[in-house]
Amino acid sequence: MQRDSFGSRFGALVVIAGSAVGLGNIWRFPYMAGTNGGAAFIILYLVFVALICFPCMIAELMIGRRSRSNAPTSLRALAPGRRAWDWTGKLFIIIPILVLSYYCVIGGVTMEFFTRSLGMNPPSGNWSPVVWTAVFLLATGLIVVFGVQKGIERFSKVMMPLLFIIVILIAIRALTLPVRPGAEYSAADGIAFLFRPDFSKIDGKTCLAALGQAFFSLSLGSGVLMTYGSYIRPHDNLAKTAGQIAFFDLLFAIIAGCAIIPAVFALKDNPLAILSDNTDSALVFNILPDVFPQMPLGSLVGAFFFFALILAALTSSISQFEVPVSYLVEEKGLSRTVACAAVFCIALVLGMACALRPKVMSAFDGLCANWLMPLGGLLALLFVGWVLTRGDLSDELSSGGTHKVGERFIAVLSFAIRYLAPVGVIAVFLSQLFS
Ligand code: ALA
Repeated sequence: MQRDSFGSRFGALVVIAGSAVGLGNIWRFPYMAGTNGGAAFIILYLVFVALICFPCMIAELMIGRRSRSNAPTSLRALAPGRRAWDWTGKLFIIIPILVLSYYCVIGGVTMEFFTRSLGMNPPSGNWSPVVWTAVFLLATGLIVVFGVQKGIERFSKVMMPLLFIIVILIAIRALTLPVRPGAEYSAADGIAFLFRPDFSKIDGKTCLAALGQAFFSLSLGSGVLMTYGSYIRPHDNLAKTAGQIAFFDLLFAIIAGCAIIPAVFALKDNPLAILSDNTDSALVFNILPDVFPQMPLGSLVGAFFFFALILAALTSSISQFEVPVSYLVEEKGLSRTVACAAVFCIALVLGMACALRPKVMSAFDGLCANWLMPLGGLLALLFVGWVLTRGDLSDELSSGGTHKVGERFIAVLSFAIRYLAPVGVIAVFLSQLFS
């Protein structure tokens, strides 16, 4: 069977960046940075991305590209006869389906808010979260059914730049909001809140919060980067692609922070209380709909914002959807359409439970973000560090000798993959165990 691949390095870049940039950047990063020391958190985040997440990205992309297969098949093909790794591969089907099942609920909520921001009043009842979840999941499945180049790549190539432009426009609007007469705070205070380093807030918990955020935001440990890695062309530069994605993801999170935090400061009387009290999706879904009407052209800005959020969520959800689809197509011989229908049905059943029972949703989120994704990343690091050889790493980094890579870079990366990054991931686990 002819295997699909990304049509260009730019295509690979926007698709993988699309997977990374998502709801995690827009609602999680601003408040995590705000409540964990602002710029100090951002500096820590940068250090962790460079030392831990970047090696993990290379490891996962490399596993996929080396075998040019879906995630479970990759592990089996690269470690033949080792049953433990065969079983480990199954984890990379379970994790993205679980993530997808609650991600599509939030995606559905975003769609509902978007229709409301357009002035529509969709019927709401007990079952409406299920309907919105199904609509979002259907949109995701329809993009994936068209395949990698015609569906995912084409969609992301248009939507990612559009998303970037929309969020920049909202940030400019937020930063230029006038000071309200008699108001204690302004948009400038929001920027100070976000960027003034408060090193006194750095402690073990802050370090681990920054690491956890980086891990979630870059879609690590879920089989996504292995699957997308398998679509990267053999001569494309893996390290450059990974570096650019990490940079783009950080840039996007900072711009999203500039779009949200200054708006809350400029338009709300008690911004500090709102930010410190912010949990889950409160900032995006409970606070911003109140903020937009207070802005000039607020309804337009609100509609653009929720549209941007739908795009961000879709480019992430298609990556989670693609992981089991590629497995079902390549390993079980299903047609792409049937595989998409199967994944749609499984995710919808699980998604219904999440949509109807918030406790199920937060249990899924806790299980995936705090446990399964770090576990997946740790396993990928151990696989590349201890099962594959340094020659394999060197070969992938130079794309089979297509370009030159310094020996020192390979040595540092090899050390990070074998020791540094696994220890970092284990630290995340310990933080969950003892918090
Ligand atoms: N990386 C995706 C996000 O940030 C899951 O939303």
